[in-house]
Amino acid sequence: MSTITSPYLQGVFAPVDDERDDDELEVLGTLPEALDGTYVRNGPNPAYPPVGRYHVFDGDGMLHAITLRDGRASYRNRWVRSAGLEAEWEAGRALFGGLSEFQLPPQDVIDRVGMMKNTANTNVVEHGGRLLALMEAARPIQVDGRLGTLGEIDFGGRLAGSMTAHPKVDPVTGEMVFFGYSPFPPFLRLHVVDASGALVRSVDVDLLGPVMMHDFAVSATRIVLFDLPAVFDVEAMLSGGAGIRWEPERGARIGVIDRAELAALPADVTSAADITTWIDVEPFYVFHFLNAHDRVVGGIGDQIVVEGCRSPRLPITFGDDVLSEPAQPTLHRWTIDPAAGTVSDEQLDDRPGDFPRVDDRFAGLPARYGYVAATGRWGDEPIAFDSVVKHDLWNGTSEVFDYGAGSYAGEAVFAPDPTRATGSDGATGEHDAGWLLNLVTSPEGETDLVVVDAGALEEVARVRIPRRVPFGFHGNWVESSRWPA
Ligand SMILES: [Fe+2]
Repeated sequence: MSTITSPYLQGVFAPVDDERDDDELEVLGTLPEALDGTYVRNGPNPAYPPVGRYHVFDGDGMLHAITLRDGRASYRNRWVRSAGLEAEWEAGRALFGGLSEFQLPPQDVIDRVGMMKNTANTNVVEHGGRLLALMEAARPIQVDGRLGTLGEIDFGGRLAGSMTAHPKVDPVTGEMVFFGYSPFPPFLRLHVVDASGALVRSVDVDLLGPVMMHDFAVSATRIVLFDLPAVFDVEAMLSGGAGIRWEPERGARIGVIDRAELAALPADVTSAADITTWIDVEPFYVFHFLNAHDRVVGGIGDQIVVEGCRSPRLPITFGDDVLSEPAQPTLHRWTIDPAAGTVSDEQLDDRPGDFPRVDDRFAGLPARYGYVAATGRWGDEPIAFDSVVKHDLWNGTSEVFDYGAGSYAGEAVFAPDPTRATGSDGATGEHDAGWLLNLVTSPEGETDLVVVDAGALEEVARVRIPRRVPFGFHGNWVESSRWPA
């Protein structure tokens, strides 16, 4: 039975039904000349009314790209043409159920495509010359520089299973570290891709059981995995129930893996069990981590500091269950000492927020600033941000930039100013030399790419997108020199 009553199919979430190319966009203010590249963002945009209940994670991925050069701007959007979406196009209707109400497509579609659709709707990342549209339950889908879909990739047959939508790229080595989880054993695999884009290492990681793991943290020397009890129940899913449930009684752990030990494992070792330190913690949930860095404590051992947006429980539901307690995420800092087996947890802000970002040149390093999407109306309606909080992580202070009353903003992506120095050691240079890019939709349904000077926290320009861009998930700024042909 088809239904379109979900709030995630209405208003700012309503999908758009065309693919456009627009040049010479109207620009209010002045675009900085140093902004030479493309902001590209992914998000769910279902091509057809859903079969069954719609979950906000279900929609077909659509990429929106705004290219900035010489103070001018152009726009392009394209669906990610997954095999599942192609089959639906052929049929002229939706064929796959979603996370809230799983339904199998017809047998001939299962034979060709599989039981689930690779929506590729969550993030879009450039690495090793490839532009990858990602969702966490499937392989990456590579797209070209015109956002045309090239197809799923498995790194030359080396990737078994799925890839998270939140890989981490080391700004010093160029390596990309990522994991893939599965409802079936092995529940988690960890992968390392070298700077050229070759997958060079894969190991299994032992979890307590199958869980939805959305993100993780990577410092210059360590990988930190959060085994949190958002538990898969495949049987319930196949019978139309919630496939992912919050089960705090199952326990929670933080796992630490030394990247050098991982690299030194003999090629025939396929498990990380001997190099993983697990520390038990009280259950909580994190969708997104801000960053992680190493802290050397003389003579006592090395600590890892991780920041992320922590909820007391899984803050969303996947079925008919309701949240029994408030679950707004707030920014926290964990200080992990693997040798001592301890974790301390400090709340850094009491304002709800999520979609945290740093200047990715400081990924894994002690970044001074973090940017967290925030809103004064959390819980009143589906996910909607209206501001960004700039945290000075060194001094414990923060400032807010407000996108306007009633606005619908998303993740604030940091685009660095390549003309201003930044030390790659994470300790020197101008740590906020760049701009925050964000797609912001007004209450009237008009979308602008808003460019905010990250240092002064002042708007310098806004690009009028000639169409409403539905609320989406994650995006990135790709400098023109790295944008694929
Ligand atoms: Fe995410």
